[in-house]
Amino acid sequence: MLKIDKANKIQGEITVPGDKSISHRAIILSSISRGPSRIEGFLRGEDCLGTIDCFRQLGVDIVDKGSIIYVHGKGLGGLREPGDILDVGNSGTTIRLVSGILAGQNFFTIITGDESIRQRPMDRIAIPLRQMGANIHARGKGNLAPMAIWGGDLKPIDYTLPVPSAQIKSAILLAGLYTKGETSIRGGGKSRDHTERMLGAFGANILFENNLLTLRPSTLYGQEIQIPGDISSAAFFIAGAAVLPGSHLRIKNVGLNPTRTGIIDIIREMGGNIEIDNQWMSGGEEIGDIIVRGGKLRGINIGGNIIPRLIDEIPVIAVIAALAQGKTLITGAEELKVKETNRISAMVEEMNKLGIRVKELADGMEIHGPNKIHGGQVESHGDHRIAMALAIAGLFANSPVKIKNSNCIGISFPGFEESLKKIAK
Ligand code: S3P
Repeated sequence: MLKIDKANKIQGEITVPGDKSISHRAIILSSISRGPSRIEGFLRGEDCLGTIDCFRQLGVDIVDKGSIIYVHGKGLGGLREPGDILDVGNSGTTIRLVSGILAGQNFFTIITGDESIRQRPMDRIAIPLRQMGANIHARGKGNLAPMAIWGGDLKPIDYTLPVPSAQIKSAILLAGLYTKGETSIRGGGKSRDHTERMLGAFGANILFENNLLTLRPSTLYGQEIQIPGDISSAAFFIAGAAVLPGSHLRIKNVGLNPTRTGIIDIIREMGGNIEIDNQWMSGGEEIGDIIVRGGKLRGINIGGNIIPRLIDEIPVIAVIAALAQGKTLITGAEELKVKETNRISAMVEEMNKLGIRVKELADGMEIHGPNKIHGGQVESHGDHRIAMALAIAGLFANSPVKIKNSNCIGISFPGFEESLKKIAK
């Protein structure tokens, strides 16, 4: 159980752990490249460590030296049939991206995950991967995990995504590496583009323009990868500091890929003060320091194209909307219902327990601020981002907020409590 007390301000200079999306992709692409890769800044959270386990089971030699991970890539054709079921734990990115690779393997694998993963839709990847020629058997109507995959002999497709999802796009791209022709993907919109960027950095023949992604036959070569801090982890502190007058926070070396910075745009639109400093590039990704000064925020409408650029930050955006002056309307965010938990209903239920006026909508929420937040006991629903968003609410509550089942925070942000306690004064 995590207990959070009221704070007067958020102040200091910190770093956050490595980007989760980029950490997964660094292991995946280096495993199927030729030659060695060196990965620095890897997120040592449960989800990404699970991706390492999967590739070890697929025969890749991965040496974990703590701050640096060395991967001895096997090349596209070098993976071997695992001797047991692959278990991705809680990680949607692992199951969907690894399935893309398994679709290209001429061997048999069963892939599954925890209770949350076994309820999340896999038809979004099973449908296109079957169209490419993979044999995929899954549970129930929604194509749920466990999935049994026997791949090989794939043909390329021209596919329009039903939702702008980076995980679907990436699964198809990874399977596309195992075809002899041109794979085209449309409709990715503003979903995160780390796979495309990293494929380019590993030497793939990939083009991305507006809404069309094209991949041609490629060989990948091992690289040195520097992983930036995760803006989705930084988001909790950015949000807390922005809405707490007197705060002044610098978060160093955070990934600033434009497909991930929707939270900065939204907080600025709410009247918040955020600056970017020391910007540089590494491995095709923008990195920089984020400086936040606290002040009063106002409610706004959040919807449309910006949603994929802040999808994982909506739980904490809901918390600051509760503190802002006026109404905040979040729409077009139905994808939140199929994340680690239904993040719309979970946030509405838990925010109500803290006395916040919030209404559940079919595709988002309506929040009326400002609210006086009460203390009390809330529940993470086993979802790391719900747990951390509620912790930020605790900084503003008139008595302590206790978050049950908070150990799920280790999925994406080991050390969250220590970091928060360092900057919350
Ligand atoms: C992720 C993509 C997003 C995001 C998830 C990580 C990724 O999901 O919510 O936490 O690493 O590709 P979708 O692509 O399904 O929207």
